[in-house]
Amino acid sequence: MPMTAYLNGQYMPLDEARVSPLDRGFLFGDGAYEVIPVYARRPFLLEQHLARLQRTLDGIALANPHSVAEWSERVQRVIVDGEFDDQSLYLQVTRGADSKRDQSFPKGVPPTVFIFSTALPLMTQQREQGIAVLSAVDNRWLRCNLKTVSLLANVLLRQQAIDAGCAETILLRDGLLSEGATSNIFVVKDGVLRAPSRDHRMLAGITYDLVLELAARHGMPCELRDIADAELRVADELWLTSSTREVLPIVSLDGQAVGTGKPGPAVRQMQAWYGAYRSQVARASACDV
Ligand code: PDD
Repeated sequence: MPMTAYLNGQYMPLDEARVSPLDRGFLFGDGAYEVIPVYARRPFLLEQHLARLQRTLDGIALANPHSVAEWSERVQRVIVDGEFDDQSLYLQVTRGADSKRDQSFPKGVPPTVFIFSTALPLMTQQREQGIAVLSAVDNRWLRCNLKTVSLLANVLLRQQAIDAGCAETILLRDGLLSEGATSNIFVVKDGVLRAPSRDHRMLAGITYDLVLELAARHGMPCELRDIADAELRVADELWLTSSTREVLPIVSLDGQAVGTGKPGPAVRQMQAWYGAYRSQVARASACDV
């Protein structure tokens, strides 16, 4: 079955979707996006993702073309038409296609809105056994709190990990942890969960927020503050979080074992809380139907 996409008011098979080469997303990376996990055809934390989309759009002075209800309706339709029960749903808004190429904002040009979904990648082995990561200097711009489609720096940084046979690149700016190239990073030391606090140096992940909420709810001590490179090297545990990967143990950093070199007790605890929360949300949304 061909995958269904939504493009500017119409649903169509993904391979029939077409945008103009003058689209500002294509020319300038001028747009915002979200990636939303879908379990059993229900989007997980959709409201939070749409709220972050709004924050990104506000940050790049692009009017949101849809209300939350309109987004939900479009997202649901793409999910229902999708091939898989568990999906990774992508949505993007760009500043549209002008008749000329000029960096300044065009006038009277409608935004381009695009939604499609693919199968949610199975992360069973990574979740169980953990992943290897490497570190690199964070050379991105200083508005990393916005989820924009200008991702070339992330692309190059992530490729460094892939070329080295690793799953992710951990980024350090001025010797301090910012995040992963496509994820957030947590540190556990002596039973305390640590993460950088939300600011312009990192994207406040929806999973990052949920992990902090679950830690608070279950009484896991937590500290949000700058984390020095040296602290990563002596951590008991490192974790990677993102919507499509949930919570993954990092067992090796730059070729050195993290802690015991095996997933630790704190990550197992958080994975269990995360799974329980997901099931609870699924049960609650099933009752709404
Ligand atoms: N990436 N930081 C960066 C730079 C990211 O790209 C992502 C997610 C995160 C985690 O955010 P969340 O928990 O909301 O997924 C943090 C997505 C999945 C992507 O670009 O594909």
